[in-house]
Amino acid sequence: MEFVEQLKSSVDIVAVIGEYVRLRKSGTNRYTGLCPFHNEKNPSFSVHAVHQFYKCFSCGAGGDVLKFVMEKEGISFYEALKSLAERYGIPMPKRSQYADEDSKLRGALLTMHELAEDNFRSNLRAAAGAEARAYIGKRGLAAETVDHFGLGYSERSGRALVKLFEQRGFPAAQMEQSGLVGKRQDGTLYDRFRNRLMFPIHNETGKIIAFGGRALSKEDEPKYLNSPETPIYKKSHVLYNLHRAKESVRKEDRVILVEGYMDAIGVTAAGFPNVVASCGTALTTQQVQAVKRHSNSIAVNFDPDGPGSNAAERSIDILLAESMKVRIVELEDGLDPDEYCKDRGADAYLARIEGAKGYFYWLADRVRAKQDMHTSEGKVAVLNFLLPKVQGISDPLERMTIANDVAGYIGLEQGMVLSHFRKAVGDRSEKAIERPKSVLRHDERMLLIALLTEAEVRAEIIGQMKEIGTIETLPSRRIFQAIFALDEAGGRVGFEEVNARLEEADQNLLAQAVLNEDGEVSREEVLACVGSMLRSNEQYLKLQIKTRISEAERSGRFEEAIRLTGELQGLEKTARAKRGNQ
Ligand code: GTP
Ligand code: MN
Repeated sequence: MEFVEQLKSSVDIVAVIGEYVRLRKSGTNRYTGLCPFHNEKNPSFSVHAVHQFYKCFSCGAGGDVLKFVMEKEGISFYEALKSLAERYGIPMPKRSQYADEDSKLRGALLTMHELAEDNFRSNLRAAAGAEARAYIGKRGLAAETVDHFGLGYSERSGRALVKLFEQRGFPAAQMEQSGLVGKRQDGTLYDRFRNRLMFPIHNETGKIIAFGGRALSKEDEPKYLNSPETPIYKKSHVLYNLHRAKESVRKEDRVILVEGYMDAIGVTAAGFPNVVASCGTALTTQQVQAVKRHSNSIAVNFDPDGPGSNAAERSIDILLAESMKVRIVELEDGLDPDEYCKDRGADAYLARIEGAKGYFYWLADRVRAKQDMHTSEGKVAVLNFLLPKVQGISDPLERMTIANDVAGYIGLEQGMVLSHFRKAVGDRSEKAIERPKSVLRHDERMLLIALLTEAEVRAEIIGQMKEIGTIETLPSRRIFQAIFALDEAGGRVGFEEVNARLEEADQNLLAQAVLNEDGEVSREEVLACVGSMLRSNEQYLKLQIKTRISEAERSGRFEEAIRLTGELQGLEKTARAKRGNQ
């Protein structure tokens, strides 16, 4: 077996895709979820466990497990192969025929980050790391927390990584591209991070792709120095700690969003592993989409200061656009999440999370505090601010509930407000969601599935099926033809082989057939199906002959009419005989 096939048959596509998408079992072998390749509110993405493919009926994305990993991670075929092989402990063949320049570069950059992490970690244990260790102690980080988050220390010389990479033979250009090394005017290279506490940043598969480095003293500017964008690090796509958090995000069905590395670490250490950090950048749609696959409930816990609240307010619109259920966590006494957990303890923090306000009430409080609610200008300003937010609520039930009690909540006259909000509620036009509709008939789908999956049944019926001329009139005809052709060539007749012979439109039909039909198809059902197709084929042939007979009679070709009548009787006789056999 070729390596690619061996790999594909050893990995479970549902498990692999399940790491990126929340999949729900929707049939015997079928799973559905929100498509990770486009933004949607209702699931139109399916995975088939047996035929090992995925398909989105909305955006058209589809393919096998390798294609999924390639597209999702933005990596090459070779890298996807390698990453799956590693994850499943399948040794790769030595000759790397699949490697290309791009993936070689990314591979080198990932290796450099691994080397850097090693270096930072051992610095932290060495004599040079004394100051960093003292800082860690001061911040109250336990040894296992330091270890869990892979914290390290970049030493002062500014040459450590450059030397290490030189020894390993990385060319200067690659060193620069890693973002870990900079180049001075005179052409000499230096380490980007010096004398800092280092936080490795991982992608969703757990590979280190960047670092954040914190200054150890107040005088050192900037407080945080982060990796620049590189071929392996796109800031706007990454959430700190997501690769560790995702499992518990699913389990809890809630993600806690904080601003900083130290917050994510402190909250995790307090016993809430379902936390991710946006790391000082404004929250992006891509980041939201990355967490949405694991849960659509989010508790936003930004710093209690002005910038923190402003960032929380901005993030609300982005979160709502992605249909997240948003709560805003408020901590008393100006403490940030890290400080709060240390100071007040896990129980108190849990109570704040559980008691977090729905974002709408948080916004209402905020705007109310800014306006003078005794004046009508103030009231109108509040109303104008909240109105589009009500319209933005995607769930109709929630929209209605909020529209109904917001008047009381912001202390405005019920009647006046309600008519405004009702209108706003009504104005929101719901986009109709396109659902996959199969253009194939039930019997077509069943036969396709039987031919693809049940070798014995296939052997039993394929001969008869080839004689059914009316198959040529079915929308699925080219799929049947591909199956017949493969069968005649003596090759394996499976989903993949057939799929590979089809044009895209027919691949879509096949995906629909396989995803729409559920459960096992029984031999009896299949035979009944073939029987009825044979009968309608017969009818069709008879009808054709009858038409030709009457045409012949009308134009006086009686001999031809007699010959055709004989043919018709022959047809009926063989049909009776066939039915007798069954
Ligand atoms: P501590 O202040 O040590 O508790 O860390 P923190 O993670 O709580 O930091 P803070 O709340 O000040 O900032 C939140 C996040 O913004 C940090 O984790 C960094 O990712 C980012 N950040 C903060 N300061 C800077 C800076 O000076 N430069 C850059 N590039 N990012 C920063
Ligand atoms: Mn902090």
